[in-house]
Amino acid sequence: MKVTPWEVEGEVDYERLLREFGAAPLDIRGMELPKPVLLPLRRGYFYAHRDFDKFVEDWREGKRVSIVTGRGPSGPMHLGHILPFYTAKWFQDKMDAFVFIPISDDEKYLVKRKLKVKDVESFALNNVLDILSVGFNPEKTRIAIDMKDTELYRPAVVVSKRVTFSTMRALFGLTQESNVGWVFYPAMQMVHLYIPQILYGPHRVLVPVAIDQDPYIRVARDVAESIGLVKTAGLLSKFMPSLESPSGKMSTSDGGEEKVIWLTDDRDTIRRKIMKYAFSGGQPTVEEHRKYGGRPEIDVSFLYLYYFFEEDDRKIREIEEGYRSGELLTGELKDYAAKKIADFLEAHQKRKEKLLRRDLEDVVESFSFREDERRRIKEWGREF
Ligand code: TRP
Repeated sequence: MKVTPWEVEGEVDYERLLREFGAAPLDIRGMELPKPVLLPLRRGYFYAHRDFDKFVEDWREGKRVSIVTGRGPSGPMHLGHILPFYTAKWFQDKMDAFVFIPISDDEKYLVKRKLKVKDVESFALNNVLDILSVGFNPEKTRIAIDMKDTELYRPAVVVSKRVTFSTMRALFGLTQESNVGWVFYPAMQMVHLYIPQILYGPHRVLVPVAIDQDPYIRVARDVAESIGLVKTAGLLSKFMPSLESPSGKMSTSDGGEEKVIWLTDDRDTIRRKIMKYAFSGGQPTVEEHRKYGGRPEIDVSFLYLYYFFEEDDRKIREIEEGYRSGELLTGELKDYAAKKIADFLEAHQKRKEKLLRRDLEDVVESFSFREDERRRIKEWGREF
């Protein structure tokens, strides 16, 4: 297993990651969360945290809270990429949170050897379109693109002075061969995590991300108080399981374009991919399946339903028990999972079509920093 912010390889041992990173295991019992609690939060897809309890407490006390979650535009987006943004929307709807969405075109340009500037620029726009299709409130949401919204540079300089090379190397797995842009980039992502506080003064900011992004949260926490800010909180998830392995990560790097579910896939394509590739916890023959039953805990179709798509607690228990007993067959389970995923993606695609009927520049503009916000970012940090 190898997990850094830029590389995830092999079978992921989530408990070991938690110990290595030093985050706390998440237990939401006893936390007073808004109801209904977001599915991936209720079912343990988010499984670790830093100060999430304090974040919830601050919201309970009526204090301002914000969310930051971003996207590295290395290509078009698949199902696993969009889920953090639906999480952000839940916090916006339920806690009235301000949401900041940074797009790190610089990061992907620096890290991916093959990508040209024009590639990351066009992926950035393509990705913004999908992210906006989630349906954020333009009054309470801002999107920034690193290489376009250049006022992020100055705070990044302030921040970068407070992190040593040896910290960067230890946390991010940098090597002697890493280009110097790559060494600097983490300062940009630290600034992303601070932006709500830079705009609105010190307050609790939560970053819901997959656990590979935790190193950014750790350095941001270490530096925050020295520049007058509150320590960043983190809500850390597992990876969206890949179609072919319950403990792998949905990704284009090994399986190619065909083995992920794209946001643009239609109902038939989704069904075909699930039928053909989704790893099954069932038995090889119907006969054996009826006799011995299946294993839902390693069945990718079941896991998708459990973590993301089957809201109904009674129904998911029925599916789990039916599958384990052998009453529910793999084909039936896959069919149901494909339908639920298609329902979700069709709703996403409809919102996207509606967005595309408007002038795209206007839409993006309505989610960009306002003049006074740009000024606040530019003026921040003089005293440091
Ligand atoms: N580094 C993230 C990725 O590779 C993208 C990202 C940029 C991000 N800024 C962020 C994620 C801030 C969470 C918070 O996908």
